[in-house]
Amino acid sequence: MSLVYAGICCHAPGITNRPQAADASDLAELKKQFEMLRQEIEAGAPEALVIISAEHFGNFFNDNMPAYAIGMANYYDGPIEDPGWLGIPKVRVPGNQDLSRRLIQNILNDAEVSYSEEWKFDHGMMVPLHHVTPNYDTAIIPVNINCQAPPLTPLHRVYEFGMALRKAIDALPENIALLGTGGTSHWPCTPDSGKINAEWDQDFLRRWSDNDVSAMTAYSDEDILQDAGSGALEIRTSIAVAGAAGGQGEVRFYKPIPEFACGCLIATMSID
Ligand SMILES: [Fe+2]
Repeated sequence: MSLVYAGICCHAPGITNRPQAADASDLAELKKQFEMLRQEIEAGAPEALVIISAEHFGNFFNDNMPAYAIGMANYYDGPIEDPGWLGIPKVRVPGNQDLSRRLIQNILNDAEVSYSEEWKFDHGMMVPLHHVTPNYDTAIIPVNINCQAPPLTPLHRVYEFGMALRKAIDALPENIALLGTGGTSHWPCTPDSGKINAEWDQDFLRRWSDNDVSAMTAYSDEDILQDAGSGALEIRTSIAVAGAAGGQGEVRFYKPIPEFACGCLIATMSID
């Protein structure tokens, strides 16, 4: 079968940690768009959801940091954070080791990846999953792109990874949905936390929606750090989705929400 859905969304922990801090109408629209995302993923009847996130040192650290890692387990526990703080109860998320293994084997024809049979999900996985698979009844295949600990994989390589992922998915008999989760501009864990460069975000989202590969991958990490903060290094997750989907993007929701310390985003991309 094939890739049946592609989208991206933010994973700001503030969405579940302090929802009341945001403007009520913004929060209501964000939740509405998450619900639409959930329905669209469900409509594709995927046998698994591949979720590409940017891990925050919960599982991978500088002693052995993979540029790309894929989960290969029958379950994943999360959240790794205190559930009372994150506002998401502890849960065992289903995986599918056999499907992961076949996906990884296919990807290795075109890209180098590492795998892990143990993975505890942090907010990067759990905030999106809490909204799009609230009953945790869909098998998840987690993918991590190192967006935290330089040297980072170059943006053009991320797009190519997305293409390799797509080819690997299409070679499987199962229907697969794909969701990328990462930030646009934000300055987490710094005195500038709460700052958002909405103009930079909108420009990136135009490049992403047009699936303009050269424009989307033209940023240097130094430029990103200067203009959009370390959190924007996570655009790698969105770029990988664009490489996989190959279509045109549609931004359903973008709103700077300083209380959540980022621009909140939900977008889909057609599959070409
Ligand atoms: Fe993040």
